Amino acid sequence: MKERCRRLLIVCCWLLVAAQLSAQAPAWTEVAPGVWKTIIGKPESFDLLKASGAVPDKAALAAIRKAGFPLVRTEIAGRVQDGKTYLRFPLQREEQVFGFGLNFQTVHQRGKILQLHVDHFGGKDNGRNHAPTPFYVSSLGYGVFINAARYLDVYAGSGVRKDSKNPPVAKDRNTDKTWASRPYSDAVEILVPAGGVEVYVFEGPTPLDAVRRFNLFNGGGCLPPRWGLGFTQRVQRLYNAADVNKEAEEFEQKGFPLDYIGLEPGWQSKSYPCTFEWDKTRFPEPKQFVQDMLKKGIRLNLWLNPYVSPDASMAKAIAPYTGSHTVWVGAVPDLTMPQARKIFFGQLKKDQVAIGVSGYKIDEVDGYDHYLWPDVAIFPSGHSAEQLRQTYGVLAQRYSTELYRQQNTRTFGLVRASNGGASSFPYVIYNDYYNHEDFITALINSGFAGVLWTPEVRASKTGEEWLRRFQTVIFSPMAMINAWSSGTKPWTYPEVADQVKQLALLRMQMMPYWYSEFAKYRFEGTPPFRAMNLEPGFTQEVKKESVNENLEQNPYAEAAAKEIKDQYMAGEYLLVAPLFAGQTTRKVILPKGKWYDFYTGEYVGEGQVITVTPGLDKIPVYVKDGGIVPMMPARLHAPKAGEVVDLEVRYYGDKPGTYKLYDDDGETFDYEQGAYSWRTISITKDANGQVKGTLTAPVAGKPNTIGQVTFTRMTK
Ligand code: GAL
Repeated sequence: MKERCRRLLIVCCWLLVAAQLSAQAPAWTEVAPGVWKTIIGKPESFDLLKASGAVPDKAALAAIRKAGFPLVRTEIAGRVQDGKTYLRFPLQREEQVFGFGLNFQTVHQRGKILQLHVDHFGGKDNGRNHAPTPFYVSSLGYGVFINAARYLDVYAGSGVRKDSKNPPVAKDRNTDKTWASRPYSDAVEILVPAGGVEVYVFEGPTPLDAVRRFNLFNGGGCLPPRWGLGFTQRVQRLYNAADVNKEAEEFEQKGFPLDYIGLEPGWQSKSYPCTFEWDKTRFPEPKQFVQDMLKKGIRLNLWLNPYVSPDASMAKAIAPYTGSHTVWVGAVPDLTMPQARKIFFGQLKKDQVAIGVSGYKIDEVDGYDHYLWPDVAIFPSGHSAEQLRQTYGVLAQRYSTELYRQQNTRTFGLVRASNGGASSFPYVIYNDYYNHEDFITALINSGFAGVLWTPEVRASKTGEEWLRRFQTVIFSPMAMINAWSSGTKPWTYPEVADQVKQLALLRMQMMPYWYSEFAKYRFEGTPPFRAMNLEPGFTQEVKKESVNENLEQNPYAEAAAKEIKDQYMAGEYLLVAPLFAGQTTRKVILPKGKWYDFYTGEYVGEGQVITVTPGLDKIPVYVKDGGIVPMMPARLHAPKAGEVVDLEVRYYGDKPGTYKLYDDDGETFDYEQGAYSWRTISITKDANGQVKGTLTAPVAGKPNTIGQVTFTRMTK
C-alpha cells in the first residue's frame, strides 16, 4: 500500500512538472469586439494598460466588420518557466510582420531579434527606441499585443524549433550551395521576464483594421485642438519675455503662420535638474506674459524634464516619493504614486496651467542609459526601475493630460518616450537624432506603434536641406521648427524663405483635412500618418526567402530590399513621397487605382512605379481617384473655438467620392459628451457626366464652424 502511494506521488509530481514544461494552447476570451485576451501564468499587477489607464472604445470597435479569431489556436503557445513567460505565435511562409515599436530604419520586422526597451534611438533598430510598443501587425491581417511593462526579448521569426510544423531541412555547407546561414523560421517567440502576462490578439480582417482595433482598444487616437495642427516654433533656450514677444511679432509682420511657441529650458529658474518655476529675471510677470501672448493668438508650450532640483520649492515635499537614484542630480518622482503626482502635477497646475500655459514638452524620459536612472534603482512604490523606465513617458502623458481635462481645454505637446496603451494621449514624439531619411521611416512606423512622431526641423547645412526638411514636417502630425540651440527661424535661409512660407500657409489651408483625419484617428482608430503597407492595393509580395552563405546576412534580405520606407499615407487620400537633400528625382510606388497630382489634379499613374523630378519647390503628393481634400483660406492662426470659416473642397480624378468632415468647437473636451458632428461631402456625376459637389446640412444642436462652401474640380 505504501509503495502504491509512493508511486502515485511520483507520477503526480512528474505530471505536474511535465504540464509546466509543455507549452499549452491558451484559452482566449473576446474582451471587446474583435479583441481577444488570454492570461499566461500569473501576470504582474502593474502593466502597460494599467500605466496608461486606457479605456477601450467598445462601440467604435463594434463598428469594424468582424473577422473571427485570426490564428489557429493550437499553434499559439505560452508557458512559465524559471520565473519567465515564454510565448510563441505561428508565422506562415509568405507572412510579413510590422511594428514592434517606433523603428527608424526598417519597416519589415520578420527575421529580427529585438529587445523592446525604452531608450533614445541609438542609430540601429534593435528594439531600443522611444516607443518600443510590444505590438505587431501581420500582413495577413491581425495584430498581437503583449501587455507587459518589461524589457521583452523578441525573436520575430528567427528561432528554428524542433517541433516546427514547417521545418527547414538540414544541409551540408561543404557541398550544398543552397545552404542558408539562417534557416527558415515559422514563429514569433517572445520572452517576458515575469511569471505571467496578458496577451491580446486583434482581429482584422485587414492589417489596417488590426491597427485600428489596437488604437480603439487604447481609447482611440488623440484629437488635438485645432491650434495644435497649426505651426509651432521652439525658441532658443535662454530667450526672455521680450525676445519671445519680438519673435511672435516678426512672424506676424512677415506673414508666417504661428499658433504656439515652445519655451526651452530657460523659462525655468534652474534646469537639468528642474525647479518647474519661472525664472523671474527672464519672465518677471509670467501671468501677464502668458495672457498677452494669448491675446496675440499665440499659445505657450513649456519644456521640462521631470527631475527635481534640490532648489525646487517642491523638493522637500516630494523627496519621500522619489527613487533611490538621481538624474542630473535631480530626484526622480515615482509617478506611479498618487502622493508624488499630487505634488509634481500640482506645481505645474498652480504655476503654469492655471495662468494659461497650453502644454508641455516632456523631455529625457527615454534614455541613453547614463542619463536615466539605472536598473538597480529602487522606487518607493515597489515598482522596479525597469517597470518605471518602460512606462515613465506614458505616466507623464497621462497625468499631464489630466490637468487639461480638469479645466476642459485640450492640449497638444511633445514627449520623448511612450509605449503601448498611450494612443489617446495628445503627445508627439521627437528626438535628438536628426537623420532626415530615418525620420520619415519613424513617421511610417509610428502608425504601427500607436504613437505620433514629428520629423522636426532644427538647422540645416544648406537652403536645399532646410526646404526638404520643412516639406516633410508640414506633412506630419506637428509642423515645428525646434530652434532651441540654433536659433533658426522659418526665413533663416533667404533663398528658400518664400517657399517655406508657402508651405506653412498650405499647412494652415489644409487644417480642415488634418482635423478630420485626426478625428478619424480618435473615433475610428485610423492613424493619420501610416505605412504604404496598410494601403489597399499596395502589394509588395515577397515569394521566397533568399539563400545566404554569409553568416551576417539576413535571410529576409529580399523582403528588406523591398520594404518601402520613404513614402507614406497622410490621411485618407494623400500619398506623400519626400525628397532628401541632394536628390532631384525619385521613384514613387502608386498602389492599384488611379492617382493624381495634389497640386495640379493631373493624372500621374495607376498601380505602377513612376519616376518624378518635382523641382526643389515641391514635395511630391498624390491623391487617390475620387479623393476629396477640404481646405480653408490661408491664415496665420487656427480658427478660435467655434469660429466660422469658409471651406474650399478640392476633388480629384473621375470617380465619385465621399468624405467624412468632422466638426466640433476645436478646443474643449465637449466632444466626449457628444458635442460634435460628421457631415458628408459627396461628389456625384449625373447621367450627362455633370459633376456636382454637396455637403450635408449641419446637425441640429451640434457645433457648426463651416461658412460658405465652394467646390474645386482639380482634375480637368
Ligand atoms: C534636448 C531636446 C531638445 C531640447 C534640448 C534643450 O534633450 O531633445 O529638443 O529641448 O534638450 O536642452
